[in-house]
Amino acid sequence: MLIAVYPGSFDPVTNGHLDIIERASGIFKHLIIAVGKHAGKDPLFSTAERVEMIKEATKHLPNVEVDWFDGLLADYVREKGAKIIVRGLRAVSDFDYELQMALTLKKLAPTVETVFMMTNSKYIYLSSSIIKEIAGYGGCIKGLVPDNVEAALRRKFKRG
Ligand code: COA
Repeated sequence: MLIAVYPGSFDPVTNGHLDIIERASGIFKHLIIAVGKHAGKDPLFSTAERVEMIKEATKHLPNVEVDWFDGLLADYVREKGAKIIVRGLRAVSDFDYELQMALTLKKLAPTVETVFMMTNSKYIYLSSSIIKEIAGYGGCIKGLVPDNVEAALRRKFKRG
């Protein structure tokens, strides 16, 4: 069975991520969305909150599993018996970072391939940080994130 892992920090998941998830789930038999830790990023949502939000937003996709990991991506992928890592590419600015990540993974897990999918042009400018910034100032993020994420952001910033 061809298992693919789509890793990211997903803080929070956006419609840009969701577009990649929907397209990748149509290609691979089983797709694992893996919420990981990016050194240097201080997340707004806990890992459990991020996992729950992705589960809710992907419940219409039966071959999608949502999980988290707390170590090296290469070890996690090996543990899951996956052969493919999916990453979304938005613009040229993503390329250097993605190349570094893909080559590092190749060194740590030589049998695993990184597959890139171009982000839908509708979401090319999106990032989780920009969503948090807009939501933090009370701006409208409708259509940019799943409805459950929009509600979670509203709750988070109301409390904060
Ligand atoms: N639509 C919208 N936004 C997108 C996107 C898309 N299709 N694809 C990426 N992005 C945005 C994300 O929202 C994120 O925005 P942010 O920086 O504002 O948070 C940014 O692009 C990149 O994030 P993401 O794809 O989630 O990757 P990441 O760099 O945050 O996370 C990990 C990468 C967690 C997978 C990586 O750090 C990791 O593997 N960590 C574990 C330790 C390890 O093994 N390190 C070595 C890796 S080789």
